[in-house]
Amino acid sequence: MNRRVAYFVLALMCALFAVEAFVLPPVTPELKTKAQEYYNYECKACHRWARKFAAPPMRDNVEHYAENPEGLVRYLMHPTPQHPDEWPAMEITPLTEDQAKMMAAWLLYIFGNPDDPGRPK
Ligand code: HEC
Repeated sequence: MNRRVAYFVLALMCALFAVEAFVLPPVTPELKTKAQEYYNYECKACHRWARKFAAPPMRDNVEHYAENPEGLVRYLMHPTPQHPDEWPAMEITPLTEDQAKMMAAWLLYIFGNPDDPGRPK
């Protein structure tokens, strides 16, 4: 391998490692407890799981992001108007990245396991 090719390969490898992979935390019993508590304090006032309340049903919200967990995290960190014709914008204190990842992991888990006893009402 000549030197230029070697430098190129090295640069490419650095670039690949520099791109941080998006990963949600594993849904441990501890995460479930923390997320459920957070939900009860910060989300339940407006959302119900399966029906409209002061906000769209959470199940539908999560379904919308089922293939796009990164988008869900981004939304929770920066809620911007999504359905201005039907709903007001979500007025909450934006979540930190850790909170948003915790909630996204848990909500997607509950969506896939709707019989979980921790599922919100
Ligand atoms: C003050 C009421 C209120 C609270 C509290 C609240 N939401 Fe919402 N939420 C809304 C409203 C209203 C919308 C619809 C916003 C829109 O369409 O722009 C919404 C929409 C959403 C959506 C769907 C966004 C989309 O792309 O359609 C998600 C996901 C969501 N909320 C998650 C949460 C989570 C998680 C919490 C708790 C951390 C929470 N919400 C707390 C009112 C609330």
